[in-house]
Amino acid sequence: MDTTVYQPIPGTPPAQGTPAVRARSLTKLYGKGEATVRALDGVDVDFEKGAFTAIMGPSGSGKSTLMHLLAGLDTASSGQGFIGDTEITALGDNELTRLRRDRVGFVFQSFNLLPMFTAEQNITLPIELASGTVDKEWLATLVQTLGLGARLTHRPSELSGGQQQRVAIARALIAKPEVVFADEPTGNLDSRSGAEVLSFLRRSVRELGRTIIMVTHDPTAAAYADRVILIADGRIAGDIDDPTPESVLAGLDALRTLEGDPADALAAGPTGSTAVRA
Ligand SMILES: Nc1ncnc2c1ncn2[C@@H]1O[C@H](COP(=O)(O)OP(=O)(O)O)[C@@H](O)[C@H]1O
Ligand SMILES: [Mg+2]
Repeated sequence: MDTTVYQPIPGTPPAQGTPAVRARSLTKLYGKGEATVRALDGVDVDFEKGAFTAIMGPSGSGKSTLMHLLAGLDTASSGQGFIGDTEITALGDNELTRLRRDRVGFVFQSFNLLPMFTAEQNITLPIELASGTVDKEWLATLVQTLGLGARLTHRPSELSGGQQQRVAIARALIAKPEVVFADEPTGNLDSRSGAEVLSFLRRSVRELGRTIIMVTHDPTAAAYADRVILIADGRIAGDIDDPTPESVLAGLDALRTLEGDPADALAAGPTGSTAVRA
């Protein structure tokens, strides 16, 4: 009988079926004593591989905190977070830095491109920083999928907001991370550029097999995802498969009713599609 015990090698892809990202009783407190804020309150959630998931909820509900903890950008007060089989809540600073570099991609509201570099240099920067070799075929695929071919030699100041965010998405995907976290990626874009960026995020999941977790306050944006997780008061409050703007709005309305506090940050905005301010 073979009794060999195989230890998982750090950095190997997780076994089939392991979710890309998990939270278990994940909790985050800010401040001390009476001023303590329970930003996350025992969150249990799985994010499947190859899926596009949106996290939605009222302003202050803990969306960014959840994302930051799961991406290793901030530390938990208690509970566990996992990227694949790796418990990120058990990692030290150096290991976390390496995990963020090698296994996670980020897209922020404010593109965060380096102004003196061209679009192409910005895209390949994570590889250069890790002294790796750029996979030219993958770069070409990303550039083509994101429609950036004619813009590669331009600097960020010569690009529209939508183009800059597409460069930032290519940069987040260039190292083929296990998961890309996006916090309000369309927050600084007009609705047309926002729709383009969301289509590209969706295509990178459907056609390029990537895994994306996106925080948004916009039901229209959330409807591009395969699934929407609703969060309220630091807890998971809902889960919507194959969301539409209508089903997402209905879910948010249900939250508002539950909370019974119309003064909460859900006051409808002038456009309806941005009814929930983050
Ligand atoms: N660095 C911080 N220090 C103190 N409180 C914070 C900090 N970051 C977030 N919070 C609080 O934690 C709660 C959740 O915040 P956040 O995750 O940013 O919400 P969201 O992204 O859903 O708007 C809020 O009450 C917020 O004020
Ligand atoms: Mg936020």
